Amino acid sequence: MAISDLRARMHRRLPNFLTEYIEGGAEEELTIRENREIFSRILFRPNALINAAGVDASTQLFGQTLRLPVVVAPTGSNGLYWHEGDQCLARASAAFGIPFTQSTVSNARLEDIAALPGVRHWMQLYVFRPRDFMEELVARAEAAGSEALVVTVDAAAFGNREWDRRNYSRDMEPTFTNKLDVLRRPHWMANVLTRGLPTFANVADKVPPAARNYRRTASWTREQMDLAFDWSDIAMLRRIWPRHLIIKGLVTADDAARAADVGADGVVLSNHGGRQLDGMVSGLSTLPEARRRVGDRFTILVDGGFRRGTDIVKALALGADAVMVGRAALYGLAAGGEAGVTRALVILEQEVLRTMALLGRLTVADLGPDCLSGRGDPLNELTASPFMRENAGDGELAA
Ligand SMILES: Cc1cc2nc3c(=O)[nH]c(=O)nc-3n(C[C@H](O)[C@H](O)[C@H](O)COP(=O)(O)O)c2cc1C
Repeated sequence: MAISDLRARMHRRLPNFLTEYIEGGAEEELTIRENREIFSRILFRPNALINAAGVDASTQLFGQTLRLPVVVAPTGSNGLYWHEGDQCLARASAAFGIPFTQSTVSNARLEDIAALPGVRHWMQLYVFRPRDFMEELVARAEAAGSEALVVTVDAAAFGNREWDRRNYSRDMEPTFTNKLDVLRRPHWMANVLTRGLPTFANVADKVPPAARNYRRTASWTREQMDLAFDWSDIAMLRRIWPRHLIIKGLVTADDAARAADVGADGVVLSNHGGRQLDGMVSGLSTLPEARRRVGDRFTILVDGGFRRGTDIVKALALGADAVMVGRAALYGLAAGGEAGVTRALVILEQEVLRTMALLGRLTVADLGPDCLSGRGDPLNELTASPFMRENAGDGELAA
């Protein structure tokens, strides 16, 4: 089984408007396509005849062991795909031995998720105009014991997701066609609809009564995003947040360096899964240069389009400490709840281990640009990077 099989199961199970919410991106979806296509421009150069019997995909992140260099990305509305979807994702991540990042617009209170046994809780923060609300969320995450605060910086202006919008009428109800489609999804109706639609549990009490329907709350939340959010706010968050501070949603090496300068502990090079600025580069393309700029000790995660173990290994070889998976985990969730998420993680782990064995690299630390080769012009950003030239072994990548 592959992640694509879980995806196919999700398509059968979820109502159309939810599938499209998960799958969709901004405008022409150029970035969504780029997030997948970039992997086909990076090829492997394996070493043969290496004894790979002890191949090991575990790694260290912030001083703790991860069974696989993967962190579950923050995604909103998980409770719409499976009853208590946030709990399912958090439990599966905990049992598997990796952190779970809970979204500000998740459907469970952060305290409830952070308190689940064994959960390594990372809390994602959207920055809202009422700053006291933001500070309140930060204080709650600290009190709940969250290990990391993941501040998303690419969503102050909300992406133009036309595909998603077309599924709703003006009063924010799914269109008639979409309501009919729900009737074709008995499993989803039994699992989610009949148990009552979830709420945005971490913001629910702030929402004005007129906006208290699911879709209206979602658009109210978007209106609260603060366009004036900038680096000075990150400096402020650094002052009030005592644990790991991770900035998610930047891609340039300059921004990664600036994040390190303001005292962040790490970044997620991300284009929000192609849901925000259409036509922007994949974080993977800027990873080598970002790594060179910030050095080895600063944590870099990358996300966008990771569906295969080979994708993950390529990112690690290009200098990532770990990757975040968004849709790959959601396909598992929508296909089979907690067991489906576990399935997704096991698939990725088996594929990573197989890839490393075939490459002749036994540990994550053995992975470097010397086991990769670029193909064609589009890889310029990778091949032109001084990091790649310096680390390219026989120089093939620099050619
Ligand atoms: C359905 C969905 C909801 C998302 N919600 C959030 C969110 O609430 N906060 C956030 O920072 N990123 C959010 N993201 C972006 C993910 O955290 C991540 O950057 C992206 O999904 C990575 O790309 P991938 O889905 O191809 O793995 C969301 C993505 C999806 C697909």
